[in-house]
Amino acid sequence: MRSLIDILDFSTEELDQLIEVAKDIIADPDKYAEKCKRKKLATLFFEPSTRTRLSFEAAMLELGGSVIGFSDANSSSSSKGESVADTAKVVSCYADIIAMRHPKEGAPLVAAMNASIPVINAGDGGHNHPTQTLADLLTISRRLGRLDNFTIGFCGDLKFGRTVHSLINALSRYEGIHVVLISPDELKLPSYVKKDVLEKNHMSYEQTESLEEAMPKLDILYMTRVQKERFFNEEDYLRLKDSYILTPDKMELGKSDMAVLHPLPRVNEISVAIDADPRAAYFEQVANGKFMRMALILKLLSEAGKI
Ligand code: NCD
Repeated sequence: MRSLIDILDFSTEELDQLIEVAKDIIADPDKYAEKCKRKKLATLFFEPSTRTRLSFEAAMLELGGSVIGFSDANSSSSSKGESVADTAKVVSCYADIIAMRHPKEGAPLVAAMNASIPVINAGDGGHNHPTQTLADLLTISRRLGRLDNFTIGFCGDLKFGRTVHSLINALSRYEGIHVVLISPDELKLPSYVKKDVLEKNHMSYEQTESLEEAMPKLDILYMTRVQKERFFNEEDYLRLKDSYILTPDKMELGKSDMAVLHPLPRVNEISVAIDADPRAAYFEQVANGKFMRMALILKLLSEAGKI
């Protein structure tokens, strides 16, 4: 049974196909309106979410399917001590596909090993978030017209930011990507990502603490929120939370055709004054997330022989 746990579960060709399907959905949504008729998506969210859960639900509804699930672990039997493995077996009896978010790294993988239906990782701890990466790739492709030969700056919490880890993984597949890692020392990219992804794939990268210095080089600026829920103490969070704030004067240092991405939610790290700048791409990134999740549901259900 094919699932999506890590973005590298898909080949470059498969990622490119998903992007093509998403673009086709955007061009002709009616063609897809009944593709998942009588199919059910289960959203099992053990951690807070707005965009990811609602975009999965909207995606399934727009494909003509329906949705069951929970958005609060306390309202599920996990609060009684049920294991992720058992939950996956149980939900396989009710639904055709699962989207799972969990605070424990690897939980969606355990679910996939026990489910008899496809499982999609909708974010596991500080580890991975492959469907956000799908949204990011479509946004970059629509903004730049390509997925190779560009410079991308990741700014903020590169340590706990799972969207950063997944996107760097995906970009390791494309040619001519230069990565600029912009973070305070305490929030640097984990060395396992640096060694196993950047260095292993001979990707060119540099590290800096200065957003101003990086700004003029960037085609894409990927801002992130400092991940409060993964900190061990409040004091560190409070000290680091406003490390970077993107303001109009910093935007003046950037290229005229750069694009600013952010997986959202934003807290303070992008001033609302930037929203009207044509380079702000984070709300279209949200819309793109729904189209990519539609393409993904179609792919996994069709490979499972369910549609
Ligand atoms: C991200 C996440 O959950 O990792 N949000 C999202 O899914 N769009 C980013 C974040 O919470 O900062």
